[in-house]
Amino acid sequence: MSTVSWKTKELTIGELAERSGVPASALRFYERQGLIRSRRTSGNQRRYHRTTLRVVAFIRASQTVGIPLAVIGEVLAFLPEGATPTPEFWVRASDCWREELNARIERLERMRDLFTECIGCGCLSFEQCGLVNPRDQLGQKGGGPHRLNTGPPTPG
Ligand code: FES
Repeated sequence: MSTVSWKTKELTIGELAERSGVPASALRFYERQGLIRSRRTSGNQRRYHRTTLRVVAFIRASQTVGIPLAVIGEVLAFLPEGATPTPEFWVRASDCWREELNARIERLERMRDLFTECIGCGCLSFEQCGLVNPRDQLGQKGGGPHRLNTGPPTPG
């Protein structure tokens, strides 16, 4: 474990990875997505401000509950330059996402119930199976072979 840079305000990517438990490859990806920032040394090495640890913690907590990175990035964009997510910031973000998470859980519960009906069936019927045709979407389009009409015309 390195001890020198802990006395400074900057971390190498290895230190940030070690400290956060997030692989360096994921940190580089976060950076490419604009979620975290680094400066480059004269040797073109990344240096992260120590507060980046808190941003990474915010990203990981959000990802764990299924928030897409794009949405996380939109929320982080509300932070002023150089600021880190405070406990209040996390509370506000998690409050916003609670409704979305509850809706997602309800959807998954409906899917689980439909899937339960499928277990041991195997019909994969457009008329009978709620997973093949959720909420009878094909029925709402009226009669006819809708699934067969979606592709480009074949040369004849
Ligand atoms: S496979 Fe038969 S109901 Fe889904």
